[in-house]
Amino acid sequence: MPDLTSLTDCQTPIVAVVIPTFNEVENVPVLVDRLQSVLRGLNWELIFVDDDSPDGTAARVRAIACQDPRVRLIQRIGRRGLSSACIEGMLATSAPYIAVIDADLQHDESLLPTMLEKLRKEPLDMVIGSRYVAGGEVGDWDAQRASMSRVATRIGLHLIKADLKDPMSGFFMLRAEVLQECMRELSGVGYKILLDLFATYPRPLRFLELPYQFRARQSGESKLDEAVLWEYLLMLIQKWVGPMIPARFIAFSLIGGSGVFVHMLVLWLSFKGLGTSFLVGQSAAALVAMTTNFFLNNLFTYSDMRLRGWDMLRGWLSFVAACSVGALANVGIASWIFQTHSLWVLSALAGILVGAVWNYAVTAVYTWKRPKAA
Ligand code: GDD
Ligand code: MN
Repeated sequence: MPDLTSLTDCQTPIVAVVIPTFNEVENVPVLVDRLQSVLRGLNWELIFVDDDSPDGTAARVRAIACQDPRVRLIQRIGRRGLSSACIEGMLATSAPYIAVIDADLQHDESLLPTMLEKLRKEPLDMVIGSRYVAGGEVGDWDAQRASMSRVATRIGLHLIKADLKDPMSGFFMLRAEVLQECMRELSGVGYKILLDLFATYPRPLRFLELPYQFRARQSGESKLDEAVLWEYLLMLIQKWVGPMIPARFIAFSLIGGSGVFVHMLVLWLSFKGLGTSFLVGQSAAALVAMTTNFFLNNLFTYSDMRLRGWDMLRGWLSFVAACSVGALANVGIASWIFQTHSLWVLSALAGILVGAVWNYAVTAVYTWKRPKAA
């Protein structure tokens, strides 16, 4: 064990441990117990960031906080997202050293005191718990999950210029200044906060990886679903195009592009297959394409504020209405430019751009409304 006695007289917590949670009610008390014991002798605080878990995780954290006010809670309403939860948790503390750890006990919390000591004694910005350096283990992952992780790792390494063995890790400790220097430029999309930090920080980060064994989850379930890879891809695209164009607009446009194929398919089936008039085929194709676009956007672009039940019907209606106006704007602008310049490709592209921006802006406000509390 490292010697940490010199740190006990610090007034603000010397280290804050940020713990993102979604449906981790059973894991919370176990984790708090373990952290209390590994951090003994230090001035610490825990910051749970819970996205209003239906299983009552937030209430469990509050109950524990009644006994120990070093345990804190940020409860976010109508929001989802691991990276953004970590960022908001990290911004909620004044501690000079900040750690992030999963709530599900898969990370090895006994590494925390060593991480702190390394950061304090060595010229380092960040210490990372790694499954891939000698001594580290990925635990009992199935082959598919393990290979998915390896592929994502390889893509991620192209983005950052650091020789990180485990850029997908969600377990690390950093100096608060590192965050403060890049907090405004972080993408905050998806799962990969560590990669986001490395890709955003203006200089190479001085880091150390410490091995640990990724444990099996005992309680609750993983939130890694089909949307995670997509969010990861979006985060990479966002880093690539820069902060001027929002990730959601990129997602929206990619899905919009896919709508062209749906449109053509339906038109072909109806006009060529069923022998309807072109007008009927074209109208049906537009409606089907708008509908698939709506569902895809609801699933992916707005995965963190997905509409469900009756809200979905209302959302679909507003989406179709907005996109119909967008289509008119598209045609209007394109033909206006065509009349004055007669450059047909340029005219079409300008129309598409105006239509896409209109559709995105209007549906962002009227279809996927931000919840009032957020
Ligand atoms: N607030 C909040 N909001 N927390 C979330 C959300 C969310 O939308 N989604 C997941 N979490 C919390 C979980 O409750 C858990 O504490 C932690 O984030 C990790 O989620 P898991 O669902 O357990 O992720 P995992 O085990 O698949 O992924 C782990 O391994 C990855 C390595 O490939 C995590 O450690 C990742 O951070 C890590 O990158
Ligand atoms: Mn997990």
